[in-house]
Amino acid sequence: MNFQALATPAGGLGSVVADALVVVVPADGQAAVGDQALDAAVSGAVKSGDFERKAGRTLYLHGVEGLKSARVVLSASKDGSAKAFRSAVSQALALLKGRSVKHLAVALAGDAWTAAHAEALALAVEQAGYVYRHTKPSAEAVAMPAKVSLVTDKSGLAQARQGLAQGQAIASGVGFARELANRPANVCTPTFLGDEAKRLGKEFGLDVQVLDRKAIEKLGMGSFLSVTNGSEEPPRFIVMQYRGAGKKDAPVVLVGKGITFDTGGISIKPAAEMDEMKFDMGGAASVFGTMRAVGEIKPKVNVVGIVPACENMPSGRATKPGDVVTSMSGQTIEILNTDAEGRLILCDALTYAERFKPAAVVDIATLTGACVIALGHHHAGLFSPDDALADELIAASRRADDPCWRMPLDEEYDEALKSNFADMANVGSRAGGAITAAKFLQRYTKAFPWAHLDVAGVAYKGGANKGSTGRPVGLLTHFVLSRAGRKA
Ligand code: BES
Ligand code: MN
Ligand code: ZN
Repeated sequence: MNFQALATPAGGLGSVVADALVVVVPADGQAAVGDQALDAAVSGAVKSGDFERKAGRTLYLHGVEGLKSARVVLSASKDGSAKAFRSAVSQALALLKGRSVKHLAVALAGDAWTAAHAEALALAVEQAGYVYRHTKPSAEAVAMPAKVSLVTDKSGLAQARQGLAQGQAIASGVGFARELANRPANVCTPTFLGDEAKRLGKEFGLDVQVLDRKAIEKLGMGSFLSVTNGSEEPPRFIVMQYRGAGKKDAPVVLVGKGITFDTGGISIKPAAEMDEMKFDMGGAASVFGTMRAVGEIKPKVNVVGIVPACENMPSGRATKPGDVVTSMSGQTIEILNTDAEGRLILCDALTYAERFKPAAVVDIATLTGACVIALGHHHAGLFSPDDALADELIAASRRADDPCWRMPLDEEYDEALKSNFADMANVGSRAGGAITAAKFLQRYTKAFPWAHLDVAGVAYKGGANKGSTGRPVGLLTHFVLSRAGRKA
């Protein structure tokens, strides 16, 4: 798909030549569309009761006299924001489904574009076009327009182009993350993820290292290895490096939980919805997606993506509750619950991250059911002892329309992790489970500014629309871009 910025023709929006023209009209504004024929169509439809300037309302018009586009869709947005614009475009795209539109033009009444609107357009189009087909080739692909134009007056062309390019890169990253996470665990194995990392590296010029069990053992990652004990699938420790700045520039490090399937191990999970634990590599998928987006945008910043990948399975060789392991950091861990495995693979990855002398480390993990109870499926949980870093991530999440909510990390929560047999236990009591999980990770982050995103509630959807969301690729990409000092 090709996105472009298109200057409003001299004759106004009605003179735009496209197979379909989507006009988004903010509900709160009185802004006229700025074209005689279109304004007449809008006010006519409003008068006749066919269209209301109310969020979520759409109207499909065909063959309106005086308009060069045969199809026109009016779509009302809640306000003039990029977020409202994105959902208005999504509504319009749903209405155009199956109408063989090769060239789609999109305009905003009042022409109050920002780069964020352009980015939102690219993301809405990705969302509309994604269909999972890898193990279901019979699923019908959605025919998407070959060309999508954003109509703007001349002064907005440059920022529209920048926003579209950035949006397209993020959309590709989101799509990549969704595709990886949607693949079942018998396809998306640790080995598969390692191969995907190498492929990504070749395509986008990343330096990629994939460590096997032997190399992981040599590093002393006793905690990570204890999770993979019960599985026949060999583990992988994946490191992807993007170099956009000087050698001495401290990198941003992203660490993604890559449990390709989480049965719970010996502390086995109940059968209901266990299939959804194929999404337990959603954090890893978001690191892959972000590395892809960054590789395409090429900002002036160094980024390292780290993914510890393995399965969590029960077997005769599996780790048992009460087993004590030694992490790469030297700290010992009493594993009271083998289902709290995410923190066990992440702690060694965080210790490994020290070697990069990072400017900041952000880990992303479908870490706790408790976070889903606390925040539901809208906000990701954000944990950081560093106010400046937390603020940066919240700002990035707003720009990306990929929300997160800060949670506490007071030292009082740390007491739950006391163990009589090791430096710490891997679980506390049920209360505040998302926080004690974060407190566990914090014990491995003394060497750098650190934040943790618990994405258990937002990385995928259950139910009838079961599937990966690709979150938080948008948040992470915006965070990386802000670190590059680019206008994001
Ligand atoms: N992968 C799960 C967390 C999870 C739960 C993600 C539901 C998405 C939806 C994680 O490994 C886990 O099992 N956590 C346990 C921790 C507990 C044993 C302290 C949990 O949340 O129940
Ligand atoms: Mn688990
Ligand atoms: Zn898990």
